[in-house]
Amino acid sequence: MTSRKLVVISSGLSQPSSTRLLADRLAAATVEELKLLGIAAEVRTVEVRDHAHDIVNNVLTGFPSGQWRTEVEAIGAADGVIAVTPVLKASYAGIFKTLLDVLDEGALAGKPVAIAASGGTARHSLILEHAVRPVFAYLRAVVVPTAVFAAAEDWSGGASADSLRERIGRAAAELAEQIAQREPAKPADPFALTASFEDLLPKD
Ligand SMILES: Cc1cc2nc3c(=O)[nH]c(=O)nc-3n(C[C@H](O)[C@H](O)[C@H](O)COP(=O)(O)O)c2cc1C
Repeated sequence: MTSRKLVVISSGLSQPSSTRLLADRLAAATVEELKLLGIAAEVRTVEVRDHAHDIVNNVLTGFPSGQWRTEVEAIGAADGVIAVTPVLKASYAGIFKTLLDVLDEGALAGKPVAIAASGGTARHSLILEHAVRPVFAYLRAVVVPTAVFAAAEDWSGGASADSLRERIGRAAAELAEQIAQREPAKPADPFALTASFEDLLPKD
């Protein structure tokens, strides 16, 4: 069985966190879908609140430090990413965007990504389409068509919980398919040349 690395970015603020619950459900469903495709998944979860101070320092200094640096490298080396934010004031969490701001240019380019959000009201579910998806499109990630929004009522059982389960399953299947289509990701080489030798040579 081949294997792939899945990184889950969960940027909930509370503990326990419904964002984390949603992230864990999506990760478990993706692992199951990959297994059906004959692929074992190694899951790493980045709990953003644990790195909030280092992320802000990264914005100010331009460099990731400590454990945060390890997480940045893991994101860059992931075969697939699940990115989950709570809705705050009708948009993504500021710390979620700040994390994306400090990633290297191209860190998510061509990478399969599933996006999801937890919120108090289903009336804000479209933040995934008008706020989150455009950011990942700018980062050149391959965002799967199903974006999963979980409102407070979706956790309370009944038809809404069934519908959430169905959305999670659909997004997980789409993500697993995208991951399976690609060769395993290579770790980013910090010393890689970004220009060819020919371009670097002086021209007369
Ligand atoms: C400051 C703040 C602003 C919020 N704004 C919104 C909002 O605009 N729309 C919404 O649906 N939920 C809003 N919520 C509710 C959170 O999105 C919801 O409780 C979320 O599940 C929290 O995730 P967590 O448990 O992982 O921290 C807000 C919560 C806080 C604390």
